[in-house]
Amino acid sequence: MAKNPLYTGFYRLDLADRFRLLKETTNQDAHALHHLEASIGNQMIENYLFNYELPFGIAPNFTINHKDYLIPLAIEEPSVIAALSNAAKLVDSITTSYGQRLITGQIIFANLDIQVEGRKIIQAHQEELLALAKEASPSMVSRGGGPTEIWSKQVNQAGDNFFTVYLSFNPCDAMGANAINTVLENLAPRLTELLGQAPLMSILSNYSEQALATAEVIIPVERLATDSLKGQIVAEKIVVATSYANLDIYRATTHNKGIMNGIDGLALATGNDWRAIEAASHAYASRKGGYRAMSEWQLDGSDLKGRLSLPLPVATVGGTLSIQPQAQWALSLLGQPSASQLAEIMVAVGLIQNLAALKALVTEGIQKGHMRMQARSLALQVGASVEELPELVDYLIKQSFMNRQKAHEGLELIRKL
Ligand code: MEV
Repeated sequence: MAKNPLYTGFYRLDLADRFRLLKETTNQDAHALHHLEASIGNQMIENYLFNYELPFGIAPNFTINHKDYLIPLAIEEPSVIAALSNAAKLVDSITTSYGQRLITGQIIFANLDIQVEGRKIIQAHQEELLALAKEASPSMVSRGGGPTEIWSKQVNQAGDNFFTVYLSFNPCDAMGANAINTVLENLAPRLTELLGQAPLMSILSNYSEQALATAEVIIPVERLATDSLKGQIVAEKIVVATSYANLDIYRATTHNKGIMNGIDGLALATGNDWRAIEAASHAYASRKGGYRAMSEWQLDGSDLKGRLSLPLPVATVGGTLSIQPQAQWALSLLGQPSASQLAEIMVAVGLIQNLAALKALVTEGIQKGHMRMQARSLALQVGASVEELPELVDYLIKQSFMNRQKAHEGLELIRKL
């Protein structure tokens, strides 16, 4: 299972060597990376002051549909990239697929008395409304996307006469929020005429369940073995841990948070709207009526099989990602994927991040494997300099437990020497 052998021990290289290896193997020049200029940031948001920074790193060892990837992630949590890179080594190739590249918009009417009649009206004017919608989205239509379908539904509960007109929309490689909202607001006046009242609101839905990305892995159980546990036992525990998460919202939330560690890191690195991704993913995890684990793990003979399906409304063009130099750099590192390819890479990262967390949790726990990283993080928090760092990390690792207090004590000791 040799994976990207050149990237074995990447974490041990100093920064200059990491940049050199990247340049040699991917032609990506991290030195040439520009930062977001204040003049641009000032145009992006109101009341701009400065850019907020996060550490940006890569997780090697990823093979998705038999193609190797270095996964870019922007994340502050010390162990995420280390855990991800390690777990990716356990899998030969991750298989991914994508549903339809469609998002949904809603035009919502409250207290509409003509519910049954309303549905007939929308049906009778479907073609006219679709043509109107396409007129409001010429650039998407010219790229082969845009509005694809219009339908309506009564959304009633205890006498509330809600009535909603839905629009399906293909945003091509963009996120499409502005494009679809423009279309919805352009449809609203005609719908007001047809239904005899103005809508309550017109807005994109972030529940993009038609844009489902799926990742699957098959891992021979012996690869999961640790010094003290057989692979079969570790695999069984991973399955049981997932069953438990399906029963208890306290655990399901944490199980899913681990998945989102990887997904959000990649979403941030590629300039995507991680709030939309978070909202859609958690809503999808509740689609059966209760909040459940996003992933599925099963034993099949001597294989552990994992699966993760999530609605991932991501983009690779348009919006602000096209003016964020680091997002452009990350997309280039991934080989300029289409939006659906990026969603597939993202769901693969989520599944492997989950594998990393579950394997650690059901074996040695998550702290032990990342002692050095936790120690480094504590040392930085208490103000250790780069020169003091190695000594303080060694000191902390020798303690029976570590916390800020211990880090303070250790730093004082080192400074007295
Ligand atoms: C920590 O950021 C994520 C984990 O808690 C996920 C999990 O418990 O599955 C390790």
